[in-house]
Amino acid sequence: MSTQSDNQTVSSVKRSSGWVIFVFFLIGLIASLISGWIAFPKLLYSTRQQPIDFSHKVHMGVVSNGCQSCHYFRDDGSFAGTPTNAECESCHMYPMTSDPDENKLVEEYISENKEVPWLSYAEQPPCVFFSHAAHVKGSDMECATCHGDIGHSDSLREYQENRLTGYSRDIWGYNMLRMGEAKHGQRHKMNDCAACHLEETGSKGDCFQCHK
Ligand code: HEC
Ligand code: HEC
Ligand code: HEC
Ligand code: HEC
Ligand code: HEC
Repeated sequence: MSTQSDNQTVSSVKRSSGWVIFVFFLIGLIASLISGWIAFPKLLYSTRQQPIDFSHKVHMGVVSNGCQSCHYFRDDGSFAGTPTNAECESCHMYPMTSDPDENKLVEEYISENKEVPWLSYAEQPPCVFFSHAAHVKGSDMECATCHGDIGHSDSLREYQENRLTGYSRDIWGYNMLRMGEAKHGQRHKMNDCAACHLEETGSKGDCFQCHK
């Protein structure tokens, strides 16, 4: 008699502790999903502003040679990439507006003979080899295919830096839910390179095609 009721209490304790364990498991699961998908990426990236803002839209209306006025290929075929003061001085030797960014450009950089420390959204780790000539000249690709339409933008977007690696978020990607993911054409992760190579050439290529 007494053993039977003991068994009953034991099994009901077991049953309820099963629920407790399940509820705790569920709470733990939800908490780890939140921290993994939402909180961790927020903590992982710090936001930096460009040293001065710059409007591509305004400048495309005033330069004489389109994008190549500032982003050109040198005679040896290498890509000049980020503009230097040499591309700005012809117009911005002296302040021409009351725009604070323009004034900063003239006073803190051009007059001081210092280059603007632009942050490059696409900059790769040093182990990666990337050639603009092979893509833009060799394969006739548009800038926007890889960079998005920054060439017609009014303002430079904020730069997000991975606190652990120091690299741009455009290289290290977005979180698993793809929340906050930029439109296609603003990611330069290994998988993005390989996906396009597979599509265009039928092969992802070997490691040493892209790695030094
Ligand atoms: C061909 C002449 C020309 C060149 C070259 C040029 N700019 Fe300008 N820039 C202008 C003019 C004109 C304006 C004013 C436009 C307005 O306010 O209507 C301007 C405005 C600006 C402004 C304020 C508006 C904005 O864009 O936010 C900044 C900052 C600026 N330029 C930065 C630069 C930098 C950096 C370079 C070099 C990479 C450069 N400019 C090269 C002509 C030029
Ligand atoms: C008057 C100079 C000027 C002209 C003309 C110009 N740009 Fe820029 N561009 C800049 C400056 C300054 C930056 C800021 C540097 C940076 O973000 O690395 C920039 C940045 C960029 C970047 C960002 C690269 C990165 O990852 O950081 C791209 C892409 C770009 N420009 C494309 C274009 C295209 C496409 C055009 C033509 C439609 C164009 N630019 C015309 C001055 C210019
Ligand atoms: C196939 C993709 C692709 C195309 C097409 C492309 N870029 Fe880039 N761009 C990149 C990558 C990747 C980097 C980073 C390179 C690095 O860090 O070695 C980059 C870097 C840059 C930078 C930063 C400076 C530098 O050289 O690191 C500028 C500015 C830029 N690109 C402008 C342009 C312009 C302008 C065009 C069109 C004429 C263009 N890109 C076409 C992928 C591309
Ligand atoms: C949207 C398409 C596209 C993207 C994105 C792209 N590539 Fe390419 N890439 C090409 C094409 C097309 C070729 C030319 C293939 C050929 O000629 O066989 C090429 C060629 C190359 C080559 C060989 C260049 C040479 O001199 O032979 C390297 C290296 C390379 N890509 C690296 C990269 C890296 C690194 C990235 C990412 C940061 C990247 N590519 C992103 C399309 C792309
Ligand atoms: C199509 C070009 C391409 C090919 C092919 C490629 N990679 Fe990459 N790889 C990249 C780019 C771009 C990055 C930097 C961006 C990133 O981490 O996604 C990278 C990053 C890496 C990293 C991280 C580097 C770091 O600084 O932490 C490793 C490790 C790596 N690749 C290994 C490999 C191996 C192994 C292979 C061959 C199976 C390979 N890659 C083939 C383009 C390529």
